[in-house]
This record gives sequence, structure tokens and C-alpha cells, in this order.
Amino acid sequence: MSLADVYSPDAFRRMGHALIDQLADHLAASTSRQASQAIPYQSPDESLAFWQADATQPLLDTPDAFFADVLARSTRVHHPHYVGHQISAVAPAAALAGLLTELLNNGSGAYEMGMAGNAIERIVVEHLAHKIGYPATAGGVLTSGGTLANLTALLTARAMLPRDIWHDGTGTEKLAIIVSEEAHYCVDRAARIMGLGDAGILKIPVDGRFKMRTDLLENTLARATEAGLTVFAVVGSACSTSTGSYDDLVAIGRFARLHKLWFHVDGAHGGGAFFSPKYQHLLAGAEDADSVVVDYHKMLLVPALATALVYKRGDDAHRTFQQRAQYLWDVVADSTTADWYNSGKRTFECTKFMVGVKVYTLMRLYGDALFEENINTLYDLGATFSTLIKQRPDFELAVQPECNIVCFRYLGGETDSVALNTLNATIRATLLAEGRFYVVQTTLHGQTYLRVSLMNALTTEADLAALLNAIEIVAAGLPVSEV
Ligand SMILES: Cc1ncc(COP(=O)(O)O)c(C=O)c1O
Repeated sequence: MSLADVYSPDAFRRMGHALIDQLADHLAASTSRQASQAIPYQSPDESLAFWQADATQPLLDTPDAFFADVLARSTRVHHPHYVGHQISAVAPAAALAGLLTELLNNGSGAYEMGMAGNAIERIVVEHLAHKIGYPATAGGVLTSGGTLANLTALLTARAMLPRDIWHDGTGTEKLAIIVSEEAHYCVDRAARIMGLGDAGILKIPVDGRFKMRTDLLENTLARATEAGLTVFAVVGSACSTSTGSYDDLVAIGRFARLHKLWFHVDGAHGGGAFFSPKYQHLLAGAEDADSVVVDYHKMLLVPALATALVYKRGDDAHRTFQQRAQYLWDVVADSTTADWYNSGKRTFECTKFMVGVKVYTLMRLYGDALFEENINTLYDLGATFSTLIKQRPDFELAVQPECNIVCFRYLGGETDSVALNTLNATIRATLLAEGRFYVVQTTLHGQTYLRVSLMNALTTEADLAALLNAIEIVAAGLPVSEV
């Protein structure tokens, strides 16, 4: 091996062509259901043992065999029986854009290192801002995931307080945010990272549809104020993770305005519906939020991670981080100056990958029609699946789904709640080990439910009926191959 070999364009071309062939075959086997398993499950120990043995083998001439092993030992998100976690069945063109940007490796935090990346990022964010219903003064950033985006939004919210916490620290002031008890755990984590502690995370209970009880907001704020807390933000979930429930953003926004609180919408999962005239009503009120997060790697077909954090007033983004880094930003050294093209000033990342290019590839190839059709198909599938569940007396729907997340359980005549938990956990474990369907589970009101996220638009009603058949068969103690 010489370094010249490593950079050989010819070798790259050969390896690249071979990889594309492998990926195209993999995709074909998944989408056609020719691959019998959505997940070739191995336990963590089995998986580690395989790779430990692999690591002791002689060096390879080409990566083909290694790539084949990775493919064979990974979950197939393009398989129509993949109905597990909220991760997109990537549009292949977006994956190719990933290859493009990874070879270019322009770290977009500073303008010269991301000339195309920064300009494209701005266009992507402004397009989403328009879809949200924000004014032309809106703006924002792309960043590495909803978790980081939610933390960033809350840091921006905190920067609006009169006290200069960035420079002076929190002092004795006790800060707090309000959020639903069903919000994604990353909001809780963000609050803790910011030093808010248990007392600073005011969790509002949910109603029967797992939506924030907005009638409790006033009282919660009054009690917190009495207790000496300074509440500075309220977060709406659009939608929640477990059940896919959209909070009432109009009511939360009204409350936030009345009390001059920052209103943040976590649309990491459900924000894709901004692209769907059929389902965007679920997001009504988001246009009044101060900030909104949307993951492109969940509902919008882009590989992880690809998240937009959009501010109603784009300038707010410049308040979040107030570092000076002259070696990076020597032209305008003060990071509060609104130079949109140095996106690193507004995001957590220093080296930042060209995430916008993957989104923009889909925008240029297919326009908004792709995002709209994907959302409509997946959300419609959620309704179809709930109908199938209701038609079978042995099954119970946890809550009528609003989107593509459906929680349900198998009853099979059992009424004891502990036995039902065991039964459903066993069904899930058996399905996982068998691998033909990939479903996950969640706990609602202390009860175990099977949970499906319909992330693949190629999943059909027949696939979902087959899943319910498989569950019945597993519950009867028979092998799934009987389906
Ligand atoms: C509502 C919600 N917010 C935030 C997140 C975290 O996003 P990420 O996985 O992109 O960090 C998730 C992930 O499932 C989510 O469902």
C-alpha cells in the first residue's frame, strides 16, 4: 500500500461501481421482499464476536466482501416489513449526495470551507420557513439531529432573558421550561444540560390522546412563579414520539404570547407534515412559534442526521452562541454579526458536514411533491393499519393514530394487565429474533404496547395484515413461517 494507491482515482472508480452494484442489489432485495428478513437479528455479543473475528483477518484487496458483511448484518430500512423506529427509508439519490459530500468533506462551519454548502443550507432552511408559514425575515440552520436542535433552540430562548447568562452564568436565578410529559426525552436532557435540574422541568400531564393538557398551563406557571422559578420557554410536541400525538400548538402559542415565553415546537418527527396540504392542519399554530425543529432524516427521506432549526426571526439564531473565534471568522470577528454564510456561528458544530446538499438534491430532483406524497402515504397507512387492528377483536388500539405511529397490543382473551405486558413483550421479542417484521414496543400508562412507525411508503395494507397474522401465530406459540 502506498498513499498514492489510497488516492488512486481508478481504484476509487472500481470500488465505487462495485459498491453501487451491491447497494442496488440490496435495495432490490429489500423493496421486492425477496429478502425474507427486515432485520437479521443477532444479539450484541454475537455481533461483537463476528466483528472481532473479522478484525483479525488479513488486509483486504477490495472492500466488497466487508461491505457485503455489513449489508448482511444490518437492518433493512427499505424492506416494507421494516415498521420500527423513526428513521427514513432513504431516497437513494440523497444517499448519493451523501457520497458526494463525504468525498468533498467541506466542513461548512466557516464560509470558505462550505461555499456551496452554506448557500444551499440557507436556501433549504428558507424554503422550510416558507412552508411553516413564517415571514421572510425567518431563518435558521441545519444541524446534527433533533436532539441537538432542541438544545440549541432552548439555548437561544435562554439568551433572550435579561440576565447575560452566557457571560455571567446562571447565578442564583432558578430557570425552568414547560413541556408535556410525553415530549421526547431529549428535551428533558437539554434542560438538564442547561443546569435546570429536576425543578426546572415542568412536565404537564397529557389527556386521553396523549396530548399536553393545555388547561393546566396557567396553573403550572403560577405555581412555578410562586416557587421562585423563572419560566422562560414552553415546548410543544408535534408530534410526540411514543404515540405520534400532536399537541394543541394554537393554545400553547396563545399561552406563550400572553406570558412572553419563548414558544418552541419540536417537530422532529411530525414537522414533515408542513409539506402536506392534507395533513398540515396538525401543525396549526406552529407559524406563531419562535422556533421549530424538523428532522429531514425521519419523514423526509434524507439519511441521518439532517435537521433544520428554523427561527421566526432569523436574527435570533445569532444570539445563541457568543464565542469569538478569530482564526475561523477573521472577516467579521464578532459572532453576533449577522453573516449568514458562516453557519458555524449559529450551530453547535465547528466542523459541520454539508447536510443541506442531501436535502437539496431531493428538492431539485423531485420538488416538494416527493415530501408531500411520502407524508400522505405514510399518514394514510397509519389510518389503514388502525382500521385493520380494530377489525380484529383480539387486538386493541392504544389510541387513534394521527400520523404514521401506531401503538396497539394483542389481547387474545387475556385480561390481567401483568400477563398482557408479558405476552406483548414476548411477541415483540419473538418477532425480533425471527426477523421477518421489525416492530418496537413502548410503555403507556404502565402497559406494554407494540409500536409501529410506518416509515416506508412501499409498505402495503397486505404487509400490515401479514404482520397482524404473524402476531396471532406467535401468540399461539407457532413459528412465524406458518403465516
Ligand atoms: C419528537 C422527537 N423529538 C426529538 C427527537 C430526537 O431527534 P434525533 O434522533 O434527530 O436527535 C425524536 C426522535 O425520535 C423525536 O421523535
